[in-house]
Parts: sequence; C-alpha cells; structure tokens
Amino acid sequence: MTSEWWRTAAIYQIYPRSFADANGDGMGDLAGITSRLVALQELGINAIWLSPFYTSPQRDAGYDVADYCDVDPLFGTLDDFDAMIAEAHARGIRVIVDLVPNHSSDAHEWFQAALAAAPGSPERARYLFRDGRGPDGAEAPNNWESVFGGPAWTRVLESDGTPGQWYLHLFDSSQPDFDWTNDEVREEFRDILRFWLDRGVDGFRVDVAHGMIKAEGLPDYTPPAEGGSMGGAAGVTAAASGVPLEPEISAEPGDSAPYWGQEGVHDIYRDWRALLDEYPGERILAAEAWVDPLPRVAKWVRPDEMHQAFNFAYLETPWNAEALRHVIDASLDAFGSVGAPSTWVLSNHDVVRHATRLSVTEANPQGHGLGPRSKGLPEYAPGLRRARAATALMLALPGSAYLYQGEELGLPEVIHLPDDARQDPTWFRTGGERYGRDGCRVPLPWEGSAPSYGFGPADASWLPQPEQWASLARDRQRDDPTSTLSLYRGALALRRSRDLGAGALEWLPGFAESIVAFRNGDVVVVANTGDAAVELPAGEVLLSSEPLEGGMLPADTTAWLAA
Ligand code: NOJ
Repeated sequence: MTSEWWRTAAIYQIYPRSFADANGDGMGDLAGITSRLVALQELGINAIWLSPFYTSPQRDAGYDVADYCDVDPLFGTLDDFDAMIAEAHARGIRVIVDLVPNHSSDAHEWFQAALAAAPGSPERARYLFRDGRGPDGAEAPNNWESVFGGPAWTRVLESDGTPGQWYLHLFDSSQPDFDWTNDEVREEFRDILRFWLDRGVDGFRVDVAHGMIKAEGLPDYTPPAEGGSMGGAAGVTAAASGVPLEPEISAEPGDSAPYWGQEGVHDIYRDWRALLDEYPGERILAAEAWVDPLPRVAKWVRPDEMHQAFNFAYLETPWNAEALRHVIDASLDAFGSVGAPSTWVLSNHDVVRHATRLSVTEANPQGHGLGPRSKGLPEYAPGLRRARAATALMLALPGSAYLYQGEELGLPEVIHLPDDARQDPTWFRTGGERYGRDGCRVPLPWEGSAPSYGFGPADASWLPQPEQWASLARDRQRDDPTSTLSLYRGALALRRSRDLGAGALEWLPGFAESIVAFRNGDVVVVANTGDAAVELPAGEVLLSSEPLEGGMLPADTTAWLAA
C-alpha cells in the first residue's frame, strides 16, 4: 500500500448489526464480517470502518457504549475481533473503528458511580451534572434540546430518593455527555485509543467530533430554524431534501450553538494525533463533525489534528450541476487550504440512502427518515438511476471516498417498516413524528434464494427485509455486467488503476448548465443532471452508469472517457 494511503482511500462503512450474521440470531456479528471480507476485497475497497460493536445496551444501536474496551456478546468476543482484523489485513484491507467520546451509555460504570455519588463528587465531575433552575431546581439547567428530540437534560433521583441534579445528554437520555474539561476523562480516552491501536487498528472514526466541549456556563440557545441533523446548521440540512436549491456555501461562520464546534475540541485532537503518531504505520483519525461551512470543517484536519473529516456538505448537495460544481470547488479549496484531502460521501447509517434521497421531492431534514406517511417519495428505478450517476461522479473525484454497506447493491431506503419494528431513539423521542434512521439499516441481502437473503443462516433479521432484497442480493448481481455491483466494482478498479484519488480536477468548459464535466488525470468525466441526452466529447468510453443512447449521454447518467 502506498504511503499516506488515507489521502486516496475508498473506505467502506460496515454497520455490524446489519452486515452479516454468523450465528443466526438475526443480528450481524464480527464472525459474520470475517466470513464476508472476500466480497469486499472483490469490490476493491482499501479500508473498512466499523460502526460500534462494543459492550452496549443498544439504546442507540451501539453508540451508547458501556465498555469501550470489550465486544458486546451480540457481536462476539475480542478474539473474534482479532480474527476479523487479521483476516482483513491479510486481504489488504485496513480497519478503522468507531470511537464515541462525546457520551457514554448510562450503563457505563462511571455513570452508575456518578448516580450513586453525591452532587459535587469526583464521580459526577466526569459528566455534566448541574442543579436545576427554579425554586426547587425543577426546571432543566438550560433550554438545550436533544438531537433526537425532547429536552437535552434528565433529572436524577438522589440517594435519599428525592429529585436532584440534572445531567446533560445531547442525544438520548441513555447517553450522558462526558465533561471533557476533566483530565480524568482525557486520560481514560488516551488509554482507550492505545487499547485499540495495540490490537492493530488503522484508525478511528470519531463520533460527534464537534460536540465534546460546551461553551462556558452552558448558556441558553435556540437554533435558528428546523434542525434535526446530527448537529449541522439548519441551512445545510434543508438541502438534504433533494429539492434543487441554490448552493449556499458561504464563508460566514455557520451554526453558533454553544455545544457544537467550540474551539476547545481542537486541543483534544492535537493530543490524540500526537498519540497516534507514536505508532508505526499510518493510523488515522476521521472526524464526524457536522459543522458548516466547509472552511470551518477544515479546522478539524489541520496538519497536527485529524487526517480526514466527513464531507457532509457534499452528501447534502442535491443532484443539480451548479450545486455540485460549487460544493466540489468549495471542498477542494477548504480541505486543500490546510493540506488535507477532501473526502466524499453519499450515504451512511444516519441518512436516507442516496438511491432514494437524491430523488425525494419534499423537504426531509437529515435524521427524520422516511416512512409510509412521507411525501415526495420517488419510484425505485429512476431513483437508482440517479444514484448510480451520482456515485460514478463521486468515485472520479480526487481525495478519499466513503461508501456505506449496501449502496453497491443499489439498496433503497426501506420505507415500509412496521412501526413496532422501529428501533431508532428518534422514533420514540418524537412519539413517531420522525421515522428516524432504521430505513437505511435493514440487514443486507447476500443470496436471493436463501433464508434472510443470506444475511445469516436462519430466517432471522433484526429489522424485516423487504421482498425486493431477493432481486438485489449480491449473488444475483455478481455476474451481471449491468448491475449496480458491477458498476461499483468497475469504477473502483478504474479509480485505482488511473490513480484518480491522487489526481487534480480541471473543469471542462463548453458544456450546458446541467452538465458537470471535468478532467482528472487521463480521465474525462461527464455527468448529465438534466432531462435530455447530450453529446459526449470524443474518446473511448471507460465506464457509463447507464447505456449510452446512440453515442449520446442520457439524462441522469455519468460517463468516464479516456482523455
Ligand atoms: C452520530 C452517529 O453516527 C449516530 O448514529 C449516533 O446516533 C450519534 N452520533 C450519537 O452517538
């Protein structure tokens, strides 16, 4: 593998609950991942990022961690982890794990100790406990709202049984926020990093990397408008609807929430970077930082901080040529200005799958999800067509690309999940008003004719799989040159052989407004976001997301040509 592998890597996100189930209990596990790594090697990715598999009550699908240095029995054991990473490395695949430092689970021994201890104790000082407001302290310490809906504070009962202090949870009430001004917390996380680095991990995806430090005094704050993202500014989330909007990437500071993007977070990452750099190989940090605009995100990847930050501005850009050109330029400028690669991403476990999202015609803020009552839902085939074109565009861009499990099969968002199957805390905390994120988390289809479509050996799956999974299963697509799987495999192979990740982008003039056209090295890329077919420049066609029509590039299609 080349040096600075992360600058150009294609990184595949595994959501362990839903990737592959080895023991037939309906829940994915580490042994399942190990058994299916061959498929990822064939796909042609460079690294995997695993969402959490640590000990957890699973109130937020594992983003509520009770023990950071162990594997939850649902997913296996530490030995299973060691076997998985050894197999991945043997196949030339690096392994990135998820680190969840903003909050723990309420089942974490530190939080249990805090509940048992008195106000003002060192046990409480690891979290953000505060007295309430009002005469009896019966009102929350401030007006902050949880990202999942409802108040961000919960009141505890003190040991004498009387209502007492409140603790902060920016997410579910089962996810108390740590106090990162406390050195004990910092020391603990250094040990956690070392634990996994010693086990051979190649890096960490850092959850809520914009949230760990809160403004002094925890001042009241009212977000500007409908939010609902993992903490992004409202202006960005509006674009997630897929409704073509004017690109709105300004140089102004975005959201000024006293819990997002505080300057103090950067000291933590400098400290972690120094720690990672003590290790051989190139271990990386990747930030989940929902801040806006892009020049602000670039602060997370200054040379002595993290290596990568997710490009949510790109993910939230509609299928609109002008908006795409704008966000691509803004990304390359912002990340380039600090010497970092840009990243690109279209789907993950928190957003509506892009085979659906890019064609939704009604506003749908991130995190709200889609369900039977949602409006503006697209048909599958045209939605997939657009998604294939969007992916073909993304994989030609210089930098590092993130893929989310199942997108290589063209999986849509699952809209028709029964209410009683839903598990996202958003669904519960909003009384069903927001569907939440379960629709992008349905277990993968591997074999069209097998029980649970090959997800596991039994007919069991923690979220019900739709019948459509049979025709989208990996074995049905594998040898079909027109399948979405073949498109991904072809694009990833060309991306590697033509070194597109390390390339430089040059816009090509002379195309209609609805066309995105650029050259990257010896490849010319033309994406048609409009309604009518357009002429392609001369050159051998290397790849096309749909068949060409008499040499013309049809609507919602991307082609790569030899320059
Ligand atoms: C972001 C994660 O991606 C999401 O799934 C989780 O619910 C929140 N952070 C809280 O940890």
